[in-house]
Amino acid sequence: MVGIHNTFGIEARASRYVDYHSEEELIGLVPSLQGTPYIHIGGGSNLLFTKDYDGTVLHSCISGISVDGNCIRVGAGMIWDEFVEWTVENGWCGLENLSLIPGEVGASAVQNIGAYGVEAKDFIQKVECVDLRTGERRVFTNSECCYSYRQSIFKNELKGCYAVTYVTYLLNKEYTPRLEYGNIRSNLPEGVEITPRVVRDAIISIRNQKLPDPKVQGNAGSFFMNPVVSREKFLEIQKDYPQMPFYEVDGGVKIPAGWLIEQCGWKGKSLGRAAVHSRQALVLVNLGGADGKDILALSDAVRKSVSVRFDIDIKPEVNIL
Ligand code: EPU
Repeated sequence: MVGIHNTFGIEARASRYVDYHSEEELIGLVPSLQGTPYIHIGGGSNLLFTKDYDGTVLHSCISGISVDGNCIRVGAGMIWDEFVEWTVENGWCGLENLSLIPGEVGASAVQNIGAYGVEAKDFIQKVECVDLRTGERRVFTNSECCYSYRQSIFKNELKGCYAVTYVTYLLNKEYTPRLEYGNIRSNLPEGVEITPRVVRDAIISIRNQKLPDPKVQGNAGSFFMNPVVSREKFLEIQKDYPQMPFYEVDGGVKIPAGWLIEQCGWKGKSLGRAAVHSRQALVLVNLGGADGKDILALSDAVRKSVSVRFDIDIKPEVNIL
């Protein structure tokens, strides 16, 4: 058994762990996967292991960036924030609001990572993959990826079927700042020209204020997704909670799960060796020595409270294995 890296800092092992470094190497591995369980992981920043994994864990180390016009093709194994830093350093605009999100480039295309008013899907042009059932290559256009909030075809219909090898981002040299979300503006220095570098620094500072560093305290970022409820349901809750933050979205109204959890009194509270973070209730943390079952017990307790109080089932964003 081999240890599996995860940002929750939970001890978990797999029967087989494979780091591969090229598309060819991955294709060569495909026959050995047939008839056995396997999963593909990224930086381990969106995973909760509740037991050891009796199968193969695949991880991409494909790196490298190449530029063709405005298209930037990047290896799935590159660390996401190193890629964002590269874009800012090289005068490419668009991804700066997604600074400091943990994880790797491949996961950005599977998860449709998002923060501060921007989602990866806004800039993804195509996603190159290998079919883990046949070893065939396939390229998905942006629309074929069926993106929506934290969702893609790779998490739904084609879950577990494809490994992402390269993602091509379509970026701009001209900068259109996206500063509408929350407190970005109030974190910008006064009297300074707004550039992607300035916005990246502001986002890094906001994230560092709110979100725990997994190197210091195990966590997987947002543990839950923000629920989207019907307009009727929203208006019903708003009658009792006029201060409730919300966002109008296609198909209803999105309510921040962090707010719902805080209303239920969970912010900063612990259950065994797991806790709800004191500055952002959407994040569950490992207080030290927690196992996956401790985190899951806390998640269940939090979900139950939100369900009893608001009649909303908040769904984990993290993959639970
Ligand atoms: N809120 C509370 N209490 C809390 C947390 C939030 O009342 O404990 C309220 C805030 O006051 C604010 C609203 O909820 O009015 C939204 O909060 P925030 O801006 O922190 O964003 P979020 O909806 O809680 C989402 C993403 C984050 C991303 C931020 C910023 C999801 C699941 N999470 O959180 O993503 O950084 O927006 O864009 O959509 C991640 O995925 O790991 C992650 C951190």
